[in-house]
Amino acid sequence: MTGSMKIEELDTPVLLVDAGALERNIAAMQDIAAATGVAYRPHSKTHKSSIIASMQLDAGAVGVCCAKLGEAEIMAASGIPDILITSQVVGRNKLVRLVQAAQNANIMVVADNEDNISDLSSAAQTAGKPMDVLIEVDVGQGRCGVPPGPEATRLARLIGDTRWLRFRGLQGYQGLIQMTADFDDREAQVRLALEKLMETADHLKRNNIEVDILTGGGSGSSIIDTALGGYTELQPGSYVFMDSRYRSAQWPGGAATPFENSLTILGTVISRPATDRAIVDVGYKAASSDGGPIVPLGYENAEFTFAGDEHGQLFFPGGTCPLALGDKVTFLPSHCDTTVNLYDRYIVTRDGTVEDVWEISARGRVQ
Ligand SMILES: Cc1ncc(COP(=O)(O)O)c(C=O)c1O
Repeated sequence: MTGSMKIEELDTPVLLVDAGALERNIAAMQDIAAATGVAYRPHSKTHKSSIIASMQLDAGAVGVCCAKLGEAEIMAASGIPDILITSQVVGRNKLVRLVQAAQNANIMVVADNEDNISDLSSAAQTAGKPMDVLIEVDVGQGRCGVPPGPEATRLARLIGDTRWLRFRGLQGYQGLIQMTADFDDREAQVRLALEKLMETADHLKRNNIEVDILTGGGSGSSIIDTALGGYTELQPGSYVFMDSRYRSAQWPGGAATPFENSLTILGTVISRPATDRAIVDVGYKAASSDGGPIVPLGYENAEFTFAGDEHGQLFFPGGTCPLALGDKVTFLPSHCDTTVNLYDRYIVTRDGTVEDVWEISARGRVQ
């Protein structure tokens, strides 16, 4: 498939990654972090690919984040040496798998619950290898995490009291503000979240508990996180690909984000049922819909609607559809993470030709 094959010759629907744009995005995040000396540990939940994780490490990332244990198992087995699992790992089966995976890599976990801490300690003891734990603080998302303040100190003491766990720090991630379009509004929201995390860290320090790691932040807040200071590590994910939702998050002074759209879906017109409509082979199974409609590049005047599991409709309001049967249409996903999880592989392109095929090795690893 690789070599001189042109993108238009690919069978569809297919997920494309523009290698040049991906490389530039990885370099841009490295520059943002390097400018202030804050470490970054990109979130592999976006790409689910050990190849892209290795590119990020080569650029200067200190490790990767994984959302799920299943992703961490794939990353560890692929030789990624340093991993933070950013969701709680709960239940006997999972803890057995966790300590097994931790034989191949340094794996840190987050916790927000006393019973879970006790179970983590037992699992680490059985495996005979101490485990690093961060306490998750709810800095505004209203999802997991202890409230800002003294509860983290209580849990950190419990961790410190066990021989098999090491308290390393705090995670505070506020995902709801990452795409706030107006830069000043987003900065104010990031400040609020950061204050909650710092207040919690201060409480720990006042109680003589060392806090090595303060981790959080995403692609939209990265430029603000580094400027404000406080985090020791950032965990941006989407910046490698971006998507139509993320494009609207402005940079300082109202500038456009420096991250390019590197991920697209190629589809084909399979029916022309009316003069103002075309049906493409991209439906719910080829593009996620949780972020809204996908964007037909080059046909922005057309309205895309999902028309079923395998179908999408392009409607040209008041006009004549310029597309013919068999024409290819490139779409910008509305949410990169959930779209990637629908595919087994990336078709990697450069300058209009297919350069490589990369397995999406952690695709579907939701357990
Ligand atoms: C805990 C956590 N950290 C980091 C990220 C990455 O955020 P983004 O994709 O906005 O860069 C996510 C994304 O959902 C997340 O859930």
